[in-house]
Amino acid sequence: MTDAATLATLIRNRAGSEPVRLGLILGSGLGHLAHAVDGVAIPYTDLPGFPHVGVSGHNPNLHVGMLEGVRVAVFGAREHYYESGNPRAMLLPLQVLKALGAESLLLTNAAGSMRPDIPPGNVMLLSDHINYSGLNPLIGEKTDARFVPMTDAHDPQMRRALEEAAVRLGIDLPEGVYCWYSGPSFETPAEIRMLKLLGGDAVGMSTVPEVILARFLGLRVAAISTITNMAAGMSDEQISHEHTKAMAPLGAAKLEQILREFLRSFR
Ligand code: HPA
Repeated sequence: MTDAATLATLIRNRAGSEPVRLGLILGSGLGHLAHAVDGVAIPYTDLPGFPHVGVSGHNPNLHVGMLEGVRVAVFGAREHYYESGNPRAMLLPLQVLKALGAESLLLTNAAGSMRPDIPPGNVMLLSDHINYSGLNPLIGEKTDARFVPMTDAHDPQMRRALEEAAVRLGIDLPEGVYCWYSGPSFETPAEIRMLKLLGGDAVGMSTVPEVILARFLGLRVAAISTITNMAAGMSDEQISHEHTKAMAPLGAAKLEQILREFLRSFR
């Protein structure tokens, strides 16, 4: 398999050698945000070892260029654990991000809300997460580097900067705890009642493995959910992937504004 340094060279040859400062991974129904990047789009299929993403509503291209004056690498799609059963599917892309010079990573996803005060159409900043899947992308790592501390895994400084950006825009950005369920089936109402008891605020099928991998690689990381539905049993609406994709643009508009404002003051 091609290593991260070789892929980074390939990307620099196409996108220019200026170091990337921030990586961004886009979730379901949010892939179009990548088109705002002023730079080049490289299909994942041109990058050996990059995930084969088969989920509709994602954009399997790496966009490298400028966004609000910051050099970024935007991953228009992620591979989820449920696609092939590999919790470390995003390891190579994150190693490449690091090799391109980035120190920070912002993750986005679509999620179901377990909080009646955070209904669909809202965005939620992750204060922390619960790895309810019990899986871990670092299983099999051989060195002591695998014992990654997860206190403050969601970087307090990045979270503060995102919150301040939201305040400047007048957009509500509540903080909450995200629970990772493997998917691809949605949760049962009983599972959602349990996750609420355990302290969860939103539930989704991604992000947590990437937070763990990012901390392993020494990247600062923060994550934002766009709420596409109330979690199972909490409303009469039918939960489906179609519904997720249809609802994502509501939160995506807020997410894009917050992201742009965050980048304008990115240090
Ligand atoms: N559960 C899991 N993943 C999701 C949901 C949900 O309710 N909504 C969007 N992604």
